[in-house]
Amino acid sequence: MNKKERGRKMETDVVKLAPSILAADFARLGEQVAEAEQAGADRIHVDVMDGHFVPNLSMGAPIVQSLRRVTRLPLEIHLMISDPDFFLDEFVEAGSDSFLVHWEGNGNLHRTVQRIKALGKRAGVVINPATPAAVLEEILQDVEQVLIMTVNPGFGHQHFLPTTLQKIRRVRQMIEQIKSGCDVEVDGGIDAETAPLAVAAGANVLVAGTAIFGESEEVAAAMDRLRASIKQLWKQPQRVECTTSKKE
Ligand code: DX5
Ligand code: ZN
Repeated sequence: MNKKERGRKMETDVVKLAPSILAADFARLGEQVAEAEQAGADRIHVDVMDGHFVPNLSMGAPIVQSLRRVTRLPLEIHLMISDPDFFLDEFVEAGSDSFLVHWEGNGNLHRTVQRIKALGKRAGVVINPATPAAVLEEILQDVEQVLIMTVNPGFGHQHFLPTTLQKIRRVRQMIEQIKSGCDVEVDGGIDAETAPLAVAAGANVLVAGTAIFGESEEVAAAMDRLRASIKQLWKQPQRVECTTSKKE
């Protein structure tokens, strides 16, 4: 590992980057994921949409199967579908490492989470912008990550909703009390302007599609820009305190 790579690694030990392939050039998907891996991505975020749970269609297990051949990074599957339980097996067979399932519309979230764990995979719960943090209280001890949607799910390239910052703070506070070590991940509109806000509020995993794959710059340069934006926080002690404080 050279000096630059070591520097990247040190920063991502604190805040992890999860590039979302929704914004990638699908004709060069393998290449772009390999670039993200080389540039120090921590996991690859795969958005699965069924045109029913969200008003858009995206991709299914065959994409995961192809990605599994080109990267060793964990593949996290964000299921924006109506019947997540029904598709878990085929995504596991394809090589998925973790699943993010929505609280909304799930008649028995606990059962879904237990099924994911029984399959030997990491489980996370997702909440939409209008869903309060309080719904997480009884499921937190069973999951390893919480994904807070910072846009309404279904599309990339949307604007970050600043009203979600207060919720990120609340979730961080709940996690410190109930399940320390659980990841607080944010998804939607994350770029060099919003990433520091989300991290200061308590996020430690950033999903980013457009900011990593959607710009004209190279994937590595885009990831460096995101990291540089977060680095500012470490130079301002009062904002770092905000990420770890148990007070709101
Ligand atoms: C939106 C998806 C996101 C999306 C984020 O429903 O869950 O993962 O890829 O895209 P950007 O980073 O462009 O907002
Ligand atoms: Zn997503």
